Amino acid sequence: MGILTDIRLFLLLLVRGLKCIKIYMRRQGKNADELAFAGMREQIEAYRRAGAQIGKFVRLWGKLDAINPHLVTIGDCTCVGSETCLITHCPINPGKIKIGKNVWIGFRCIILPNVTIGDGALIGAGSVVTSDIPPNSIACGNPAVVIRSRDPKEMKRTIEVIKNDLPVGEVPRQ
Ligand SMILES: CC(C)(COP(=O)(O)OP(=O)(O)OC[C@H]1O[C@@H](n2cnc3c(N)ncnc32)[C@H](O)[C@@H]1OP(=O)(O)O)[C@@H](O)C(=O)NCCC(=O)NCCS
Repeated sequence: MGILTDIRLFLLLLVRGLKCIKIYMRRQGKNADELAFAGMREQIEAYRRAGAQIGKFVRLWGKLDAINPHLVTIGDCTCVGSETCLITHCPINPGKIKIGKNVWIGFRCIILPNVTIGDGALIGAGSVVTSDIPPNSIACGNPAVVIRSRDPKEMKRTIEVIKNDLPVGEVPRQ
């Protein structure tokens, strides 16, 4: 009985160990970028399961509010920068956040409840978006204000890059 238990334990540990080695080997084969993208896509699936409406080709490096993820809509080909938070809960004015398609949101922004960001808008790094942003405009600051319109050529280029799974704004090494 004792020996059988020992063998079973040994086999269990062996199988677990082999699984860990397999995962490690698979990860070694991928570069950091691929791993980051895979993690991001898993996160998007989790948000979808929680009720968020997230379109195709979305890059969501930032976070959705854990309390009301179902109040968030993000359109196709939109990028949400790292450390950006989409906040939908608040004791005073909780509400929806609607982000259109082809929107690009920079690093470390805060998007407050009851805000709509129009299709093709671009939000500068570190901005706090407190009210609606019109389509195809560039807005930044705290509170974010429109500084100018977005160049349609740049937008088209960015959408192509996103659809082809390439990094946005990459500068090739010399
Ligand atoms: C918004 C952005 C694209 C504008 O770039 P640009 O066209 O080169 O802008 P400019 O340098 O001409 O700036 C225009 C004005 O907006 C201001 N401005 C630009 N970006 C700003 C920002 N993020 N926050 C506040 N003000 C900003 C500038 O100070 C300038 O003001 P001024 O006219 O009073 O001098 C860029 O500044 C930005 O924020 N990029 C985001 C990068 C990023 O987050 N990457 C990582 C993603 S995870």
